[in-house]
Amino acid sequence: MSKTQVIAVDGYSSTGKSTVAKRLAKHLKFVYVDSGAMYRAVTFFALQNQCFEHKKLNRSKLINLLDDIDIEFKFDHNSQKSVILLNQNNVEEAIRGMQVSNHVSYVAEVQEVRQKLVELQRQMASKHSLVMDGRDIGSVVFPNADVKFFMTASAEERARRRFKELQQKGESITYDEVYQNIQKRDQIDTSRQHSPLIQAEDAILIDNTNLSQEEQFEVMLDSISQVL
Ligand code: DC
Repeated sequence: MSKTQVIAVDGYSSTGKSTVAKRLAKHLKFVYVDSGAMYRAVTFFALQNQCFEHKKLNRSKLINLLDDIDIEFKFDHNSQKSVILLNQNNVEEAIRGMQVSNHVSYVAEVQEVRQKLVELQRQMASKHSLVMDGRDIGSVVFPNADVKFFMTASAEERARRRFKELQQKGESITYDEVYQNIQKRDQIDTSRQHSPLIQAEDAILIDNTNLSQEEQFEVMLDSISQVL
């Protein structure tokens, strides 16, 4: 089998990583992998299995249950999209709400959780060429990725985009709550001990505060074409 290729798309939350990563994957005929969905699925499992007590994560309880967590992606013919399965159940929608968003950073800090998910991510790349988005894809999971991007945008702009998205889904939430969640996640993601969010030295920085989706796609595709 020929060598597979990896495009890493890392960056802050709500910078539109998944939208552009999906589009690039479709264009390149690569498989798209949303690594954040994997951390969200583990968080959903942790919430369902009472691993949070008064909002605090009981780490050892979760670590002891890790072998009971099976995560895979499957193409769903109804929605024509790839969806994430947690122990064979489609949790694609369930992991996107504020409850999971408010707890996921604590789960993503746990080294044992990261080890399990990184191993799964590497297995995926041994089978298919991938566009994978996340926080540590270029820095830790695939330090030799063929192309690495690091996405950023102002916190205000990111909160505005996310607020609009949640409103459209009918979640009752204020802009301020979304803004605070984003700031809190930035702070935890960048300061955690294991695999903090950092821009890999060889990553291409994309600040999309003032870029349209089209402009951003073209810039990224151009960088990829120079390498692949
Ligand atoms: O991309 P997202 O917002 O759906 O990610 C959810 C959380 O998972 C985010 O707060 C950080 C964490 N995450 C991570 O630590 N490493 C990754 N590769 C992807 C996500």
